[in-house]
Amino acid sequence: MAHAEAYKDPGTPDEQSRRTFMANAVIALGGVIGIGLTIPLIVSLLPSSEATTDQWSGLTPEEAAAFKKATDKMPVKVTFNVHETNGYFGATDIAQFVWAVRATEDQVKKERPELFEGADKLPYPVVSMGFVVFSPVCPHLGCKYTWNTAQSKFLCPCHGSIYSEFGKHEAGPALRGLDPLPLREYQGKVQITWIEYQDNNPHMIIQKVG
Ligand code: FES
Repeated sequence: MAHAEAYKDPGTPDEQSRRTFMANAVIALGGVIGIGLTIPLIVSLLPSSEATTDQWSGLTPEEAAAFKKATDKMPVKVTFNVHETNGYFGATDIAQFVWAVRATEDQVKKERPELFEGADKLPYPVVSMGFVVFSPVCPHLGCKYTWNTAQSKFLCPCHGSIYSEFGKHEAGPALRGLDPLPLREYQGKVQITWIEYQDNNPHMIIQKVG
């Protein structure tokens, strides 16, 4: 057989199964390397709670005052500007918001143990300053969900996912609960790190920080 034609030769059954085994082994090895690289990469993207990097967005005193309106039964929307720098537009401020829920670590841990231990343990405090703050982006396909006072639940209007006040996924097509974001008080200012996580994935995989 001509050399150039050799790759078309399906080979004997033994050769075929050897090739299948090798192909699967390469894919599996790639997956292991990928996970090994992804975890340090994710952690390295996140600012530590002592960091002064501009990945932390500062809230104005008026914006920070919104936290005080949250009660045990009523999360509040807190708006703030995420400071972004890119090659096309330079520095810009993008208006965003989070949902702030009054919480203790025990309350959140009871409903969302996966955030505190195991493979999906978050590398930053889930509860800070007596609050957990959730990204407003539905982890199903990225719509903005809202708080429904009558039901005391977060409801997504797009495909009907329902979440408890502590972000536990209770119904609908989403594959995980709501995504907590880093919150801290630093030098007298309330700061939040804006993180976009991959949608439609049971795990919180970082897409973008800040
Ligand atoms: S985007 Fe929220 S349920 Fe689909």
